[in-house]
Amino acid sequence: MDIFLDTANLEQIKKGARLGVVRGVTTNPTLVAKEGIGDYKSVVQEIASIIPGPISAEVVVEGVEAMLEQARDIATWAPNVVVKIPSTTDGLEVITALDKENIKVNMTLCFSLNQALLGALAGAAFVSPFVGRLDDIGHDGMELVSDMVKVYRQYQLETKVLAASIRHPLHCVLAARAGADIATVPFKVLMQMMQHPLTDVGQTRFLDDWHKVQNAQK
Ligand code: G3P
Repeated sequence: MDIFLDTANLEQIKKGARLGVVRGVTTNPTLVAKEGIGDYKSVVQEIASIIPGPISAEVVVEGVEAMLEQARDIATWAPNVVVKIPSTTDGLEVITALDKENIKVNMTLCFSLNQALLGALAGAAFVSPFVGRLDDIGHDGMELVSDMVKVYRQYQLETKVLAASIRHPLHCVLAARAGADIATVPFKVLMQMMQHPLTDVGQTRFLDDWHKVQNAQK
């Protein structure tokens, strides 16, 4: 399973790049607003220059024609930009048109297997099930991830399952077990994925023992 960062924070993305495990980035209007970013285009272009993999940028208009126009523009921002289109009826029409123009789409705000199936049939390169938001309303978000993996494989659909709205490290474990192609994670969760108390205890002990021997030899 690949790991993408779900953020518009450039420092976090640079750190993720240095760690060498971040294969892409997803942004959305809320994440951009959180960073107080005025110029979405230049931030996406900078992200796209830091991480060579897919960088998702979302359309922020409604209606087929308006979304199409904005999606075509976003697609020119950088060669690795992927356009996020919502899982709506209009969105489906837009995805079909963009697929014919070879513009890569990440269908976002996906909450059901039916939406996921239609998004794949329309030609979305990625479909993003929002795991945490389904959990929030008492559904099993990860069940949607595993259903999507099963159905896409069963019908040999090439669309990638991009597990999104990931809230904690256990979501990453479960997404990997379910066979998700990608999990897009907040920076905090990426840090938590590498944490283990026994690693910290073991490392402290190794260094203490080493220094004890060194001091005894003095
Ligand atoms: O990738 C989608 C993500 O940004 C939404 O996460 O935590 O707002 O549901 P959340």
